[in-house]
Amino acid sequence: MTTGNGERRECAATVEVCHDPGSLIMTEKPPGNIHVSVLGSETVEMLNVLDQGVYVDATLGLGGHAEGILRANRTARLIGIDQDREALQRASERLLPFGTRASLVNSNFSQIRSVIRQAGFEKVDGIVADLGVSSLQLDDGERGFSFRFDAPLDMRMDRSSSMPTAADLLASLGEHEIADIIYRFGEERSSRRIARRIVQRRESGDPVLRTKDLAGLIERTVRRSPKDKIHPATRTFQALRIAVNKELDVLEQFLKDGIDSLRTDGRFAVITFHSLEDRIVKQTFQKHSGKCFCPPRMPRCVCGAVNKIEVVTRKPIVAGEDELEKNPRSRSAKLRAVRRIAGQ
Ligand SMILES: C[S@@+](CC[C@H](N)C(=O)[O-])C[C@H]1O[C@@H](n2cnc3c(N)ncnc32)[C@H](O)[C@@H]1O
Ligand SMILES: [Zn+2]
Repeated sequence: MTTGNGERRECAATVEVCHDPGSLIMTEKPPGNIHVSVLGSETVEMLNVLDQGVYVDATLGLGGHAEGILRANRTARLIGIDQDREALQRASERLLPFGTRASLVNSNFSQIRSVIRQAGFEKVDGIVADLGVSSLQLDDGERGFSFRFDAPLDMRMDRSSSMPTAADLLASLGEHEIADIIYRFGEERSSRRIARRIVQRRESGDPVLRTKDLAGLIERTVRRSPKDKIHPATRTFQALRIAVNKELDVLEQFLKDGIDSLRTDGRFAVITFHSLEDRIVKQTFQKHSGKCFCPPRMPRCVCGAVNKIEVVTRKPIVAGEDELEKNPRSRSAKLRAVRRIAGQ
């Protein structure tokens, strides 16, 4: 094992992938099947990959953006983070040709500062985060992210964690709490009715445990308008996934820690897929570029506005027609990027 600063480190695991944060992961398998990343070239361009630059892909997934960074400059190095061990395994196969230029770490991006430190660096030249769920996770019929497959309602990105699954949440939370999750994280107007039905089923001794069962219950509960383009269960599934993985809880802190981990002129590029996370990214970036969110009559700023970055994308970058045609998932993607400025 080699860390970012070239020092040798032994991983206790004898299997191909070591899950000790800070250690390099390599496999002996050839690169697997290649998928195309959302806004791939736009993201790499925003990062302005430098000679000898150190970059963090905080949501490695299948390694598409990571590969783009490593290809953009033959001397750049990459630290890849994912909380999903299966994603890490797949990405390690894809990034095998880049050898020790890539170090992959099984961790949550909320730990970005210690991951960077353990890889042997103080600051980095760029960070990318492509938020949310990967196609690997969505297309795995066993993991419960999608109602296209009948599976237990799991939805944990980190299956090795002892965190509650979606089924656990539906079995243990009160009706109001379930409704709250579905409303806040799914912006679902029928949240109360859906929560009521879920709890009724639980009380009758027949709890909702599987994806198709939940999707069917929602379909029977929600009034569908002919204008609806998405399945009525889509919003509730998104909400449960966000709650299970505490996706929005760690986002703002991650963005702050990421900004503080950048060298002067370092770049931070973030891709979001729904308005809730995009709002957090937009406002956190604005706050760190000096915009004050205090009420107008406040005698002094208390919102934490500081001038550490410059927003590079005044408006978010979205997928062009070509990409939309090839990859429908890019439809809701928004890319925002910032540049670290000197001082503070
Ligand atoms: C949209 S995919 C990334 C795809 C990747 N950019 C590519 O090109 O293949 C998001 C990945 O981020 C991971 N992820 C999401 N939230 C995370 C977090 N808080 N910490 C670490 N990994 C996370 C998920 O497990 C998933 O594999
Ligand atoms: Zn303020």
